[in-house]
Amino acid sequence: MLKDENYDRHLMAGLVLTLLILAGFSFYLFTENNRMSAAAATFEEERVQHGRTIYTEQCATCHGSQGEGGVGTALNNKGLLKNTFDEVFFSVIRSGVPSTQMPAWSVDFGGPLTDEDVRSVVAFIRAWEPTAPEIEPVVFVPSPERGALLFASTCEVCHGGNGLGSEDAPAVNDAARLGSLADDWYRGVIRNGRPAKGMPTWGTVLSPNQVEDLIALIGAWRQGQDIQAAFNVTDLLSAGVYSLQEEDVESAAMQVGRAIAISEGVAAELLRNADAQLAAGDNAGALATLEILKEQWPIGDPDLGAETYAVSCKPCHGGDGEGGGGGVFPALHPNEFVQANTNSEMVAFILAGRPGTAMAGFQGRLTEGEIANVVAFLRTWQP
Ligand code: HEC
Ligand code: HEC
Ligand code: HEC
Repeated sequence: MLKDENYDRHLMAGLVLTLLILAGFSFYLFTENNRMSAAAATFEEERVQHGRTIYTEQCATCHGSQGEGGVGTALNNKGLLKNTFDEVFFSVIRSGVPSTQMPAWSVDFGGPLTDEDVRSVVAFIRAWEPTAPEIEPVVFVPSPERGALLFASTCEVCHGGNGLGSEDAPAVNDAARLGSLADDWYRGVIRNGRPAKGMPTWGTVLSPNQVEDLIALIGAWRQGQDIQAAFNVTDLLSAGVYSLQEEDVESAAMQVGRAIAISEGVAAELLRNADAQLAAGDNAGALATLEILKEQWPIGDPDLGAETYAVSCKPCHGGDGEGGGGGVFPALHPNEFVQANTNSEMVAFILAGRPGTAMAGFQGRLTEGEIANVVAFLRTWQP
């Protein structure tokens, strides 16, 4: 009997011990889980923090400090965030959107960001989702003219001028074929490409709106219309820089040629330098030249600018830019405002003027080319 009691006691003690160990172990598991999720949360927080720094430095100028949009799309937008996977953001940010102001950011495309940096920015953008406002998308109307511009900078290098075909790729502007195939078929081919046959996949490079502009162009071709691309040098420079980053020299040379054709004076001369660098195989030099041109565009002609200045600005700012009116008309020789602003900012300022002052805007009185010339002239007065 005693023996049995002892045995029971041992059994009891063993059971209690087991329970204690189990309790201890599950407590350990519990804290370990917490510890791991705390570590994950810290990692995610650090990533978002890193993304915030990059966003503030690189993206806010175009997309707004709170992602509210500006030159670039509003990113702090419930609809966009809900409908866009991280992978799509990742790929758009890496490669940029050609022929728009959205640059390529990945080091693989000549940008400053590593893949880990891009993931951090995506995490930062994603963190807006719970509180993001619904932003009504701007109604988008596809434009065959914009499509033609994009076609010229992106597709023509293979498909030939006006889409009429070349030895590299078949005609897209082919009446019989256009008549027998619907827009959806073209959408599919453009988005997915046929990589094995030399037609690139554009769905990951072009924005959906750009694809729609191309479909509008194809629709116009189907109706036999002749659509002219209205080139502007700013876009051609962006396209040229992009082509060179992609090591597509042929396409870059085409953009530069077009830009030369619609430029004159100093600007045309600088563009011809880039052309000569391309012809000599100095692609890195040409890329540097195009990037400088892009940054400094529009580049006017100071001699022509001096003539315009004498007529339009001298009455207030003085023949030698010394100012006048007892300080009412600021001196421009030298002038800190002129030094602090880029050429394109100066042109925008002179077009708009400063409301509420005697500095009225020159919109409608001078062309942008004439104003670019005046700005080039004002630069000769700066140290
Ligand atoms: C110089 C201006 C500029 C800068 C700087 C810029 N973007 Fe953009 N971004 C744009 C424009 C313009 C578009 C719209 C392109 C188009 O028309 O499809 C765009 C589009 C985007 C899109 C696609 C949005 C959509 O509708 O699918 C994302 C994502 C984006 N940008 C993220 C970034 C991030 C992240 C940075 C910083 C690393 C950045 N952008 C810097 C101008 C800019
Ligand atoms: C690097 C050269 C290249 C570029 C750039 C290119 N394509 Fe193509 N594309 C091709 C080739 C090659 C084919 C034919 C593929 C095949 O044989 O199936 C093709 C086929 C097509 C077709 C199908 C034609 C048909 O009737 O079967 C369309 C549409 C098309 N491309 C549109 C475009 C558009 C729009 C762009 C610009 C965004 C573009 N391509 C840029 C090489 C290119
Ligand atoms: C009718 C007189 C008048 C004419 C003509 C005029 N301006 Fe002005 N401009 C002004 C006044 C006044 C201001 C200062 C506005 C203010 O109070 O902030 C000014 C400001 C400026 C500034 C900014 C300077 C600064 O330090 O903030 C620039 C640059 C400038 N003008 C350039 C031009 C150019 C270039 C032309 C000719 C294309 C021109 N202006 C024609 C009256 C004039």
